[in-house]
Amino acid sequence: MEEEKRIPTHVSIIMDGNGRWARERGRERVFGHFEGVESVRACTEAAVEAGVRYLSLFAFSEENWGRPDSEVDALMKLMFKSMVEEFETFMKNRVRFVVLGNRSRLSDTLNGAIDDMMERTASNDRLTLILFLSYSGKWDILQAAKSMAKDYASCPEKIDGLDFADIDSRLVTAGIPDPDLIIRTSGEQRLSNYLLWQSAYSEFLFSPLLWPDFRKEAFFAALEEFAKRDRRYGKVK
Ligand code: IPE
Ligand code: IPE
Ligand code: MG
Repeated sequence: MEEEKRIPTHVSIIMDGNGRWARERGRERVFGHFEGVESVRACTEAAVEAGVRYLSLFAFSEENWGRPDSEVDALMKLMFKSMVEEFETFMKNRVRFVVLGNRSRLSDTLNGAIDDMMERTASNDRLTLILFLSYSGKWDILQAAKSMAKDYASCPEKIDGLDFADIDSRLVTAGIPDPDLIIRTSGEQRLSNYLLWQSAYSEFLFSPLLWPDFRKEAFFAALEEFAKRDRRYGKVK
């Protein structure tokens, strides 16, 4: 027991419920997304304070491209604006910023800003903040499979020797430890095509709070709940 780690190395959050939060107030859905940015700030700060090394956030799924253009546009603009505005805070808190997902679907402007932010924060070493943008778990596994198929096309005799590490190293999350804790807000209890491979042994926490209401206190409470979990990995103690 003593050797067990109480603070999760990697916390991941499926930030859900922005639309409902806004509708409850008689406002447009995008208003909820704006308020959600404040929760991102709060949880990033809380993660830094708690000594969490990786905080990843599911911000936009591949399926979310199917929402009305006006909402998609507003979300993309909001990502751009918030990212640029957070630069000083990232430097102050030594936060390394990373975006993962199907970036070919993002605009050149947004991709330019992402590259710039990733480069300028690359040597920050306190917290790695990962934003999953245009991401889906099946897409990730598919692109890893394609990459493997290409690499092994000329040496099929090696295929039988492939192992889990060959997939791990081709997922967009290569080099990032699997999430210890996955939180989903808004009461929904599903993965919605998030980290399918990487969540094999994650602990799950479903919070009834809508994302704009999920602030520091809720984040710390989630860490406390995690500390009580008994992770067995299929073995007996
Ligand atoms: C989460 O909030 C943000 C994104 C998926 C982009 P939603 O926009 O899904 O809000 P609800 O679930 O409709 O309330
Ligand atoms: C999951 O939320 C995606 C993100 C939080 C980015 P959704 O609101 O898109 O998921 P469903 O449609 O309720 O499964
Ligand atoms: Mg939702």
